Amino acid sequence: MFSINTTNTYGSVTKTLHWLTALLILTAFPLGILANNAGFGTGEEIAQKAWLFSLHKTVGVTVFFTALARILWAITQKKPRPLHPDNTLEVFAAEAVHWLLYISMLMVPLSGWLHHAASVGFAPILWPFGQSLPLVPKSEAVSALFSGGHFVFTKLLLAAIALHIAGALKHLVIDKDQTLQRMLPGLAKIAPLPAQPHSKKPILAAIAVYAVAMTLGAWIGLASHGDHEHDKLAEVSSDWVVTEGTLAITLSQFGNDITGTFTDWRAAISFDPKTGSGHADVTINIASLTLGSLSTQALGADFFDAAAHPTAKFTAEITPNGDDYDASGSLTIKGVERPVTLPFTLEITEGSAVMKADVTLSRLDFGIGANMPDEASLKFPVRVSIELTASQSDT
Ligand code: HEM
Ligand code: HEM
Repeated sequence: MFSINTTNTYGSVTKTLHWLTALLILTAFPLGILANNAGFGTGEEIAQKAWLFSLHKTVGVTVFFTALARILWAITQKKPRPLHPDNTLEVFAAEAVHWLLYISMLMVPLSGWLHHAASVGFAPILWPFGQSLPLVPKSEAVSALFSGGHFVFTKLLLAAIALHIAGALKHLVIDKDQTLQRMLPGLAKIAPLPAQPHSKKPILAAIAVYAVAMTLGAWIGLASHGDHEHDKLAEVSSDWVVTEGTLAITLSQFGNDITGTFTDWRAAISFDPKTGSGHADVTINIASLTLGSLSTQALGADFFDAAAHPTAKFTAEITPNGDDYDASGSLTIKGVERPVTLPFTLEITEGSAVMKADVTLSRLDFGIGANMPDEASLKFPVRVSIELTASQSDT
């Protein structure tokens, strides 16, 4: 039976799985680099970047399942014995690198997949099984953690592949032995090889290297997450003090709804519950926007341009409208001022008020993504949802 391994050579199933994983990994790798380095200035560029990432992720998850099949198969198989057992250092190096490759075959796609599952939006895996993973929360911190892991693990995989290929070439060119031949189609001509004592040192070395890589990846991930920190807006004092609230935006990219929130904003509110009228001054810290994998892009010059326009402002008069209310005034985003009316509901109980509002704006009215004047990748309407609780101050 040529399909199974012997103590001398690899069988056809192992060989097929070896070259299939090698091919898939060597496809995923350049796709990852290309996608990562692709620009996202124009609509066309964004569409191309998303397509490259989708392809990268799809090939990547295929690597994961192929590697799983390969490992399950390897467990049932004999391991061909080393051709030069006396060269203990070489045997150790070759086996340690094989273990690193095995661990990487799972950890590289898994870290990418976990990073993807924890982030919001952009570039889906091209399959019908959903984009989330059980137990993985949509969280910037979790996403950054696995992004750091993916970054470091891909570099380690690259180093392991380079050593592995160098080893194979050494056997081919210098030793002129059958090492490469026994991983290629056809039968290698190898005399029976002596049994070797089993050593755990190579796998322990590979695990130690991976432990260092995981620590480094977590550290890089968490440090890069810290980069998104920004100066907080100053507190404001007013009749009504906002005790909690969310300010969310939902946009539609490539047909997917992506919701993000501004975590830092301040509202100075005066409001007389008897007349139902008042005034609101809201300042929003643009840099506090978290929009999953789109966060950095959204803050860039083509979109919110946080560097040139760090805050957005909404100044409005509150007037009753039937059982509900309107806040009518002007909204300034990216230096562009527009009249906006925000209808909202209010529930007041003993000095505390819960306000809810939903309004849809057009991104183009504020020059956001102006160089994407069509809706192919990013739709014009952006839904703004506000929910806040305010309590009447004692002063
Ligand atoms: C064997 C499989 C894979 C390989 C070899 C690989 C390789 C790479 C490489 C080389 C990069 C560029 C990293 C850099 O230099 O910064 C990258 C980035 C990336 N990969 Fe993969 N990848 C694999 C699987 C996956 C999978 C399965 C996913 C998601 C489902 C994924 C998602 C990403 C993402 C989102 C990035 C962007 C970088 C980031 O935001 O951290 N990758 N990958
Ligand atoms: C790029 C991804 C690659 C991965 C992940 C990979 C992984 C592995 C692993 C884990 C083994 C051990 C086989 C086992 O015990 O079942 C192995 C064996 C081998 N690989 Fe690769 N490989 C890759 C690419 C290559 C390339 C490009 C070459 C040739 C230049 C190559 C040549 C070999 C040879 C000759 C063996 C047999 C070594 C021996 O008999 O001791 N591999 N590979």
